[in-house]
Amino acid sequence: MQNNDDIRDNGGATAAVIPVAEADGGAGSGSDYITVKSLWKVFGRNPLRVLEPEYADKDKAFFQGELGNVVGLRDVNLEVRKGETFVIMGLSGSGKSTLVRCLLRLIEPTAGAVVIDGSDITQMSDKELVEFRRDKIAMVFQHYGLMPHRTVLDNASWGLEVQGVAKEERYERTRKTLDLVGLGGWEESYPRQLSGGMQQRVGLARALVVNTDILLMDEPFSGLDPLIRRQMQDELLNLQTELQKTIVFITHDLNEALKLGDHIAIMQNGEVVQIGSPEDIVLRPEDQYVGDFTQDVRLESVLTASKVMVSPKSTVMGHQGPRAALHTIGNSDGDVAWVVDRRHRYMGLLTIPSTERALRAGVRRFDEAWEFIDQEHKPVSPDTTFDQLIPMAMSNDHPIPVTNADNMLLGEVHRSALAEALAETSAADPDYAANATLNAAIAAEGNETAGDDGS
Ligand SMILES: Nc1ncnc2c1ncn2[C@@H]1O[C@H](COP(=O)(O)OP(=O)(O)OP(=O)(O)O)[C@@H](O)[C@H]1O
Ligand SMILES: [Mg+2]
Repeated sequence: MQNNDDIRDNGGATAAVIPVAEADGGAGSGSDYITVKSLWKVFGRNPLRVLEPEYADKDKAFFQGELGNVVGLRDVNLEVRKGETFVIMGLSGSGKSTLVRCLLRLIEPTAGAVVIDGSDITQMSDKELVEFRRDKIAMVFQHYGLMPHRTVLDNASWGLEVQGVAKEERYERTRKTLDLVGLGGWEESYPRQLSGGMQQRVGLARALVVNTDILLMDEPFSGLDPLIRRQMQDELLNLQTELQKTIVFITHDLNEALKLGDHIAIMQNGEVVQIGSPEDIVLRPEDQYVGDFTQDVRLESVLTASKVMVSPKSTVMGHQGPRAALHTIGNSDGDVAWVVDRRHRYMGLLTIPSTERALRAGVRRFDEAWEFIDQEHKPVSPDTTFDQLIPMAMSNDHPIPVTNADNMLLGEVHRSALAEALAETSAADPDYAANATLNAAIAAEGNETAGDDGS
């Protein structure tokens, strides 16, 4: 695909030209915010020859040995959605830092496109690039890069200073951000007076205060000891629910990746070898390299309700009565029914004995006879992990209802399904994949029904 005719010089940057429209169209969903298309970075002299078709089957060692070129990135393609945390993982030297640096052209890509919010940054002039970086992207590094002679306040407000924000406003905004990262009260201290964890908070505050959409974080927590590191991860998760930034986060640490990532890309020798959800990566590693990363992961911490739930076997509308309920339950292979309202929102659980009691009591409709419905049988969200589901399933004989954020019933989880899923540790199990697809369909159907039903 790449050839030299595609290469055009642009203000010092040399990159293959891929029209923005094509880069967007290729992404399919259109929901992506950062699209990396066929991105290459080759270090050393005459880098473009590495892209020649004759070398298509050569590896990194060949280029280094024969041509003296180090291949930092090789035909990298990925999409990051707005508001997600996208983790890049891989061994040392696999190209992670090179990739994030190319995202803001701190190093020039050799070829390919990086489209961010509709603009291809490989096509920007130097001036556009300066503005783009200032307004759109903030970066946090492993080594916090604090200026020793500046106070915490002045270090953290650096980006605002660069933007020319007046002192009073700058300090006010920075104080708020320092509070946000737990450094209230440390404004006048100097970096040497802070622990590593606190210095990294200053680095984080410095990135947050400029209020950019995108945060690039290159191993920000790697220098911290484990306890502080976990704290920082938790805080980032909390911040993220509030701030909804688009974060590209680099790490060596799988647990960190699984905890923080909505999607994870695994890199090896400058190539992306797999991209997926944390579950995909753990359960369906595409090769041995990925499998080696994930072999020690506890499945219970990764598997979620969405992967084992089945469609609700028996639902009863609130305006229906015990006869209809017994009929519905009788036609299912279970012994309970879920009571839902007209919008398919979950109201509670109905068992056969309580339905029979309702019948004897002359109940006509359940939404006028709440005492027969078990409203304490609480639903879970589809992303509830097995770690949370297993104790629930053990303490109750009935299936666990699964609802969406609007409390609409999506499905149910059976104790036996939890056990089966855990037994199927085999990554490439076709039944597992089929079940996952089925569940995705059920979830989609549930949403549809609920939408149609709105009264
Ligand atoms: N300026 C450079 N000149 C030549 N080669 C480079 C340069 N920068 C990076 N490389 C090479 O590019 C490859 C990718 O390096 P990169 O720093 O992106 O890896 P990384 O995945 O971030 O590793 P780490 O986990 O150690 O930070 C390595 O082979 C590295 O030697
Ligand atoms: Mg690195």
